[in-house]
Amino acid sequence: MYSKKVLEHFQNPHNQGKMDDASAVGEDGSQACGDVVKFYLKVKNNIITDVMFETLGCAAAIASSSALTDMVKGKTIDEALKITKNQLIDELGGLPAPKLHCSVLGVDALHKAIENYKDQR
Ligand code: FES
Repeated sequence: MYSKKVLEHFQNPHNQGKMDDASAVGEDGSQACGDVVKFYLKVKNNIITDVMFETLGCAAAIASSSALTDMVKGKTIDEALKITKNQLIDELGGLPAPKLHCSVLGVDALHKAIENYKDQR
């Protein structure tokens, strides 16, 4: 079923919660299941210095978002934009096929937050 890494992120999510002083926010929802992921970014000189997420979603969405926050912290916004759904799934040690779509929510929410940041400039 779920990999050890997915279970670790689900049981102890990293960087979960709301960021009140975010530089940018992005949100994505799934029409299929109704789940929603929101990403908050703090950006300085194009580098993501802090990131948090909130989700109303399943275990896979929570684990994916948590792992993604670890992957983007310290990266430039352009490096973060290049992270793909497949890289995230690899980082998690895989996801069961019916849960692959859950990883898309976090990636899309991250991309929307970066777009939101770029739009402000
Ligand atoms: S079932 Fe909705 S995000 Fe996983």
